[in-house]
Amino acid sequence: MASLSVLKFSWLLMLSLLLNSISGLLLSPNRKIKLGKFPPACTRIECPSYDVIYDAKAYEIRRYNNTVWMSTTNIDDISFVSATRTGFLQLFDYIQGKNKDEKKIEMTAPVITQVTPSDGPFCKSSFVVSFYVPKLYQPNPPPANGLHAQKWEPVYTAARQFDGFVSDDEIGQEAAALYASLAGSRWADAINKTGSSDPTSSYIVAQYNSPFEYDNRVNEIWMTFNM
Ligand SMILES: *[C@@H]1O[C@H](CO)[C@@H](O)[C@H](O)[C@H]1NC(C)=O
Ligand SMILES: *[C@@H]1O[C@H](CO)[C@@H](O)[C@H](O)[C@H]1NC(C)=O
Repeated sequence: MASLSVLKFSWLLMLSLLLNSISGLLLSPNRKIKLGKFPPACTRIECPSYDVIYDAKAYEIRRYNNTVWMSTTNIDDISFVSATRTGFLQLFDYIQGKNKDEKKIEMTAPVITQVTPSDGPFCKSSFVVSFYVPKLYQPNPPPANGLHAQKWEPVYTAARQFDGFVSDDEIGQEAAALYASLAGSRWADAINKTGSSDPTSSYIVAQYNSPFEYDNRVNEIWMTFNM
């Protein structure tokens, strides 16, 4: 009898080790990386340059000088993830050559999604998804149907990093955390004055990795303002 229970025990142990290693694999996409650094993706692909104006533990204040993005029109959706996918597919076609100049354009990072509350009766939010135009095309991005160039002439942003795959539930929490960490700082006033809407429902989500990268994923919440 004793040997039987030992046998059972070892089976359970093996099973639990097996399950552990499977869940370890499944959890690896969200493996924590040390945040608060230049996104690793930007060592491989082109990213906009910026100046760090102020470095706090929970956030960073950056200035983006003249920066051109290619942007979708408003996408109304209840889901950030679904709207970003819709927008990204348009931008992906764009860089693959579906533009007036039939230019193939290198992938860059980040892809940013501007989130604002929607006026519509059924939709919670409105989203604009944008691609950072590589320096080569910044002065003159190839036009395309359904997309427009968006030019930032010095835009300041408070940025908070988080890792893993971005989920619908998480972005509101991250935005609220950024806003809370800005409270009482000299940037809070400027952020409050930018637009009339609530900064915790109007913000940008920046994603630096493709959906196929599982490690070292870096995302940011941005709240932009003018000085
Ligand atoms: C942005 O512009 C300022 C003022 O002209 C300049 O000092 C700074 O080096 C520029 N930063 C970048 C990243 O180009
Ligand atoms: C920004 O607005 C919020 C909400 O109205 C307010 O509680 C906060 O004190 C404001 N912060 C500054 C710095 O004006």
